[in-house]
Amino acid sequence: MSYLMGIDVGTTGTKTVLINENGDTVATSLEEYPLYIPRPNWSEQNPEDWWRATVKTIGNVLTRSGINAKDIAGIGLSGQMHGSVFLGGNHDVLRPCILWNDQRTAKQCEYITERIGKKRLIELTCNPALTGFTAGKILWVRENEPQIYEKIRKILLPKDYVRFRLTGDFATEVSDASGTLLLDVRKRNWSKEVLSELEIDPDFLPPCYESPEITGTITKKVADITGLSPGTPVVGGGGDQAAGAVGNGIVKYGMLSSTIGTSGVVFAFSEEVKIDPEGRVHTFCHAVPGKWHVMGVMLSAGGSLRWFRDSFGEEEKKEASKRGVDPYDIMMEEVAKVPPGAEGLIFLPYLSGERSPYPDPNARGVFFGLNLRHRKEHLIRAVVEGVTFGMRDCLEIIRGMGIPVGRVRASGGGARSALWRKIQADIYNLEVESINITEGAAFGAALLAGVGAGIYESVEEACEKTIKVSTVDKPDPDNVAVYKKFYDIYHSLYPALFNHFAKLASI
Ligand code: XUL
Repeated sequence: MSYLMGIDVGTTGTKTVLINENGDTVATSLEEYPLYIPRPNWSEQNPEDWWRATVKTIGNVLTRSGINAKDIAGIGLSGQMHGSVFLGGNHDVLRPCILWNDQRTAKQCEYITERIGKKRLIELTCNPALTGFTAGKILWVRENEPQIYEKIRKILLPKDYVRFRLTGDFATEVSDASGTLLLDVRKRNWSKEVLSELEIDPDFLPPCYESPEITGTITKKVADITGLSPGTPVVGGGGDQAAGAVGNGIVKYGMLSSTIGTSGVVFAFSEEVKIDPEGRVHTFCHAVPGKWHVMGVMLSAGGSLRWFRDSFGEEEKKEASKRGVDPYDIMMEEVAKVPPGAEGLIFLPYLSGERSPYPDPNARGVFFGLNLRHRKEHLIRAVVEGVTFGMRDCLEIIRGMGIPVGRVRASGGGARSALWRKIQADIYNLEVESINITEGAAFGAALLAGVGAGIYESVEEACEKTIKVSTVDKPDPDNVAVYKKFYDIYHSLYPALFNHFAKLASI
């Protein structure tokens, strides 16, 4: 039996999974590390922490599984997207990595848009300049830390730094590279025009592969410290969203996923390049060779519920520890006490600004419609529904772009609760499925490794052989009708509040 390894270099931690070729999970390991906020709106991590966590989790899964490392046919990498690791001449890390959720580059994004032209930028990269994307971070370092900029020899995405440490090779792949704003997303290669307009040396960037292609092999030195076998192939892998979509089986026409973790992502497969001219959702290369995807990214989806739990959920935490369950289970029991629409209470989940469908760092959270009847359970239900309304906003934009919207596959924390899956089906007015796999991006990365290693013929075949539907929720027509009314109000609130958010931010 052959095995496959997937390593996901996330923001909270690095997760490594080992699966067999049938897709059964044999062992997993997660190692967390800190996130640094040196100033408000800045967000950084230390690449050495990712490396330490990678070595540790590889060792853990090898020990826990007891398999012979020689039986691992391939390794796939996935990771938080958009971050920038700057390497000097000796391949030393020059400064902490600036992450995907860092907002410091508003000025650089304006410059990029002006310099290349909004229309041309979208033609080339399929996306507008957003603060989270990599290009702005490179210009920020050039402007603010010139002494660092002049030492730069390579710029890598987070998982590609880990790849470099594992294999000694500089490489990336199209799905993660799409989030740099430096890739010609149609042609699936670096855009000479964007690089030359922004005066970024093309040699800074590594070669760009398709996601299942082998980019290098495990070095002898790494084999000695991890227990892996030297020469094990490492494939391109994918940005966490594309790899997660492979792990959810979103690899065919008409398929769509709704992933509610800290962020909320609506991810749709596309056979061709489809662009929202207003830039409200992103168009990136998929980890399936020659295919693309469109996705909306909400910044605080499950994060809104976590905020509520941490700020007001002491009682739920106590009850949960008494009953030996998760505090979220108790919160969802409270949600069940309240009818759809939370008796007229609507929540806007823009707690840390928003990306999709409103790229606005000034947007803020709102409870709208509070009255004397409302209790804590109404507030919790409104948070769950508000997040799901935000996901529907993204879904409607995707539908409006002519991308077929068939069944939705729910994943992440939002899929673990049967009630939240039901609420999703009612709010989207679509069937919502859940699947047998919960390892997300790390699992998708392992499948991509399986394709590169020749265990599966294609990414589609890898998904067919390993992923099964476990539940299907159908929309209830009565609830659909109620939610339609509340959604219409929800949808009209941001435009009405837009100027007020800006005023609030200016104080
Ligand atoms: C995708 C995005 C996040 C990060 C971190 O565009 O910003 O998914 O990759 O998970």
